[in-house]
This record gives sequence, structure tokens and C-alpha cells, in this order.
Amino acid sequence: MVTDDVELDIEGIEREGEGAIAGAHSTEVLSQVETEYLGKRSALTRTHRTLGGLDPEARKEAGRRLKEVRDHLATRLAERRAELAQAERSEALQADRLDLTEVIPAQVRAAPSRGRLHPVTQARAELEDVFIGMGFTVAEGPEAESDWYNFEALNIPPAHPARGMYDTMYLDIGEPETVLLRTHTSPVQIHLMEEAVRTDSLPIHAVMPGKCFRLDTPDARHLPVFNQIEGLVVDRAITFGDLAGTIQVFTESYFGEGMQSRLRPAYFPFTEPSAEFEITCTLCLGEGCRTCSHTGWIELGGCGMVDPAVFAAVGIDADVWSGFAFGFGIDRLAQMRHAIPDMRSFLENDIRFLSQF
Ligand code: DAH
Repeated sequence: MVTDDVELDIEGIEREGEGAIAGAHSTEVLSQVETEYLGKRSALTRTHRTLGGLDPEARKEAGRRLKEVRDHLATRLAERRAELAQAERSEALQADRLDLTEVIPAQVRAAPSRGRLHPVTQARAELEDVFIGMGFTVAEGPEAESDWYNFEALNIPPAHPARGMYDTMYLDIGEPETVLLRTHTSPVQIHLMEEAVRTDSLPIHAVMPGKCFRLDTPDARHLPVFNQIEGLVVDRAITFGDLAGTIQVFTESYFGEGMQSRLRPAYFPFTEPSAEFEITCTLCLGEGCRTCSHTGWIELGGCGMVDPAVFAAVGIDADVWSGFAFGFGIDRLAQMRHAIPDMRSFLENDIRFLSQF
């Protein structure tokens, strides 16, 4: 009799428990069901405590059934909890969904903007156009160079003081020769002259734009990664007048007429004589300001007549050929053209700045 009662209770508890689990419609209610059916004060636990009154065989059997039911209910509970948690999560996501098309009226939803070229890229393209208009061709060279191209062929031997202003990154790529990130576009001159000698195709009238690298601290006029445009003319009977005239025409084409410019004697190992090319600072119009270090002038680059030592390095006969070269900072040109106080603005990617060009 007692055995049957217990047996009946177990079956009843199981059925009831299953019903309660299936009927729970939130994880919160399910937790209550768990306490009620599997907790310390649950019918299962209470029934377990009554087993002591049974004979050993019946106790063992009833204990086994109780455990079976407990395990079964625990499994169903876990399944139901997963189901409910999943449903609650999707409900929460659905509730959080924000339909922007409802919030923002159609007129405000502008078409995506097409973007534009960076002002320095635009400057490079305009410079190329100006020089192509003057009869130059456009060439490019590698950004990683050997010591020979960046220095030695340009008449800058090892330990020459001129190397001081050209510190850069040296690349350890397992080459026996020194390889570095070029500090100027002048090495492209060497490539072009070597090529012209190899293919017997002098004269040369070329400009060479490209990226350069220097261990410079960024400031209003300097960036450690910047752009230059190099120029090289090698022909017969080229004079300093040709150089000055070329620079004059270029300046007026790029900046418009009336721009004040000047050439000042300078020193570069690869040109003789050499000059620095400067224009009136467009920010203060010569008054002196932070951008031009209170000089009223901005240096745009260097130039000069190709040094016979450079011709000798590439095997060009300096008695037959003469030439001039120049190298300008493109970033600096763009900065002056648009009167931008600080060159670092070019790298900050501020859309309010960039969208003005
Ligand atoms: N390469 C020089 C520099 O970056 C600039 C320069 C000076 C280039 C004189 C030239 C030149 O072609 O003739 O400082």
C-alpha cells in the first residue's frame, strides 16, 4: 500500500512538473517552477524523505525512480530555459531596433558624397600638367634606394656633411649594399641619366614627382613623409638663364601672375652653381608670420646646374652636354597655393578641411 502511494506520487509529481515547465512563459516564471519542483521544499525532496519507511527493495526502486524523475525534469527545465532565453533575446532586439528611415525625413537623407582627390594629389597633377605644357615628360623612380642613387652618384660621398640633413630609415633586407627610404627625388635623375646613356637617348627633359622620407619632426612646414617634384634637363648649351626662365614660367602658371619669387645662392653637392628658390609667404604676404618663421619668404626647393661630378658618375660627357635640375616640395607648394597655415593639416584627415579643395 505504502509503496503504491509513493509510486503514485512520483508519477503525479512528474506529470505536474512537466506541465508547469511547459506552461512557464518567461525565464522568471521558470525559475519559480524550478524551486517549486526541484528545490529543498519540493514534493520530490519531501517524498525522498519518506522513503525510510519502506523495505530495502522497495526503497531502492523508489529512490531510482525519484532520481529518474528529478533528472528528467532538470533536462526539460534546461531545454525550456534555452527556448525562453532565445525568445526573450529576439524580442529585446526587435524592441531596440531603430528604423532610421522613419526617423529621418527623406529630404534630409542626402545622396552619398563622391569624395575627391587629396589636395596634395591635386597639386601633383596640376604640376605635371604645367610641366607637360612646357615640353617635359613625367617619370617615376623607386621609393627605396641604394646609397649609390640617393647619395654617392649625387656627389655626396660617405660621411659628407650634406648627409646630415638627409637622415632617413635604413632597410635591412639582406642586400649587401645599403638600402634606405629616399630622402629626395634627386636619385630619379640618376636613373634617367643612366637609362639615357644605356639607350643612347639624350637629351632629357623630365619631371619626376614622388614620395620622400626624412627623419624630420613635423611642424608647420615639414612632414617626415612628403612629396617632391624633381626636374632635369640635359641638353646642349643649357645655361642658368634656361633654369631661371623655366622656374619663372612654372611659378606663374601654378600660382598665377604677380607672385614674387627669388633665387638665392645656396649649396647642393649635385649642382654647381646652386640656388634656393623662394616665394613670398602667401599667409602674411611678406610681413612675417609663424608659418614662414617670421622671414616673409617660403623656400620651395633647390636648383642649379648639374655638377660635372654627377655627369661623370653616370658616364655623360660634360664637354658635350650641360643641364639644370630642380627639386620642389609638392606639399609646400600646395600649402602656399591655398595659404594653409600648418602643413600637418594635410595628414589629419579632417573632412571639414579636406572638403574645401
Ligand atoms: N634634392 C634637394 C633636397 O631635397 C633639392 C634639390 C636641390 C634638387 C637642387 C635639385 C637641385 O634637383 O638641383 O634638398
